[in-house]
Amino acid sequence: SVMREASGIDVMEAQLKSIFQIQKVVIVSGDSDETPWVKTELGRACASSMKKLIMGKNIIAVTGGSTMAAVADKLTPDFKSDDLLFVPARGGIGEEVQNQANTICSKMAANTRTKHRVFYVPDQVSNEIYTSFMKEPMIKEVLEIIRSASIVLHGIGDAITMAERRKTDAKELEKMRSENAVGEAFGYYFNEAGEVVHKVLTVGLQLSDLDEIPNVIAVAGGSSKVKAIKAYLQKAPSQTILITDEGAAKGLLKGY
Ligand code: F6P
Repeated sequence: SVMREASGIDVMEAQLKSIFQIQKVVIVSGDSDETPWVKTELGRACASSMKKLIMGKNIIAVTGGSTMAAVADKLTPDFKSDDLLFVPARGGIGEEVQNQANTICSKMAANTRTKHRVFYVPDQVSNEIYTSFMKEPMIKEVLEIIRSASIVLHGIGDAITMAERRKTDAKELEKMRSENAVGEAFGYYFNEAGEVVHKVLTVGLQLSDLDEIPNVIAVAGGSSKVKAIKAYLQKAPSQTILITDEGAAKGLLKGY
């Protein structure tokens, strides 16, 4: 539209797409760190991108967080398909209930009048739990559903913010700091070069599974997430669609 061109948003979208070699970039006006309703706009933009993508049967794997919760709030029943299944991408118990993937998926299903699956697994598990969980038929079944997703919807967070939100112990936090972790997605912590410097043991989608997923929609905004988003985008799959805000986009473009 004329407004978007006038504000240079279209130009920034094209620049970011070419710098990070991803499928698409959508930028909403404002900075969600400064203006809370900008997060609502991120949700709206994500809903509209999903509507363009979705036809027929789709399994949609979703992570947790407040941005994903904002997406859930903006979904409506007017999708071209009513054969949608929302499933948590990984275990998420430990986060605040409203930010858990289970809660978000059930809201997404309710708002689109489609279906969801629950996945009652903690955010982080011990080696023992991991090994025994992986033998559970119900867990195996959900894992297969997750891996066959056609769309993954996920958030990106600042590494230290996320480590603190997850009540990571002091020793581990120190290790992450010394390895310069700046971003987090799917339980993986990245440095500025996009290398994984730490990972929480998690049941569900692994970073390597993303290559098989036709569409990956990352939703993250706010100037405080610039380093995190940039880190994740260094090695993000080429089918990534980034939904972000102007606050983050301006920071991402600095130095280019
Ligand atoms: O914990 C789930 C998660 O998607 C993380 O992978 C991500 O870093 C975070 O939530 C984003 O949360 P928010 O949208 O609240 O910043």
